[in-house]
Amino acid sequence: MRVDIITLFPELCRVPLGESMMGRAQETGALDLHLHNLRDWTSDRHHVVDDTPFGGGQGMVMKPEPIFAAVESLRTVASTVVLMTPQGRRFAQPIAREYAAKEHLIVVCGHYEGVDHRVIEHLVDAEISIGDYVLTNGAIAAVVFIDAIVRLFPGVLGHGQSAADDSFSSGLLEGPQYTRPAEFRGWKVPDVLLSGHHAEIAAWRKREAGRRTRENRPDLLT
Ligand code: ADE
Repeated sequence: MRVDIITLFPELCRVPLGESMMGRAQETGALDLHLHNLRDWTSDRHHVVDDTPFGGGQGMVMKPEPIFAAVESLRTVASTVVLMTPQGRRFAQPIAREYAAKEHLIVVCGHYEGVDHRVIEHLVDAEISIGDYVLTNGAIAAVVFIDAIVRLFPGVLGHGQSAADDSFSSGLLEGPQYTRPAEFRGWKVPDVLLSGHHAEIAAWRKREAGRRTRENRPDLLT
């Protein structure tokens, strides 16, 4: 998948999307990542990207011209254009799966108090929020969005199974996991996991996943 991220802070994306599995996805060509500085599409001497809001109010609003210029220079018929904003549709695993099937994503990162609404009405295909909180900067949200999508590509995770077993894929949170030592500071790993009884282990895991979901995320069960 080709991904173009348009942001005032491309360096914020470079390391998180260049390390570990995202780095490997770039090496194998599964992820073809291009980071762009929005200021490269300004035409004035001071590279201004924002202005005060019409009607008054606090803060600054991102101007439409550089955003339209950037997207229009990168867009093809195969592109989907996404704006990262706390006013967007709330991101979740099913949305990651939906976007993992796209050919080309152009991700526009908001900043300041907001983005001129003509960008939303006439340029982007979707507005995405990564959760009900406000970040200083959409570039951080873009990193989260792209990481969750790219890890679903075949071969990006170590085991073919891993993405299917994730929390949320089954509708429940993932159950507890243990590794060696079998006893640590007097705390023992549950006997069933050492028993070798695959059916009992599977039943235990299902029960524990249910318990964890009830405790931490009862909203997933309703
Ligand atoms: N920009 C600031 N906060 C955000 C959020 N929660 N999601 C996406 N973009 C954002």
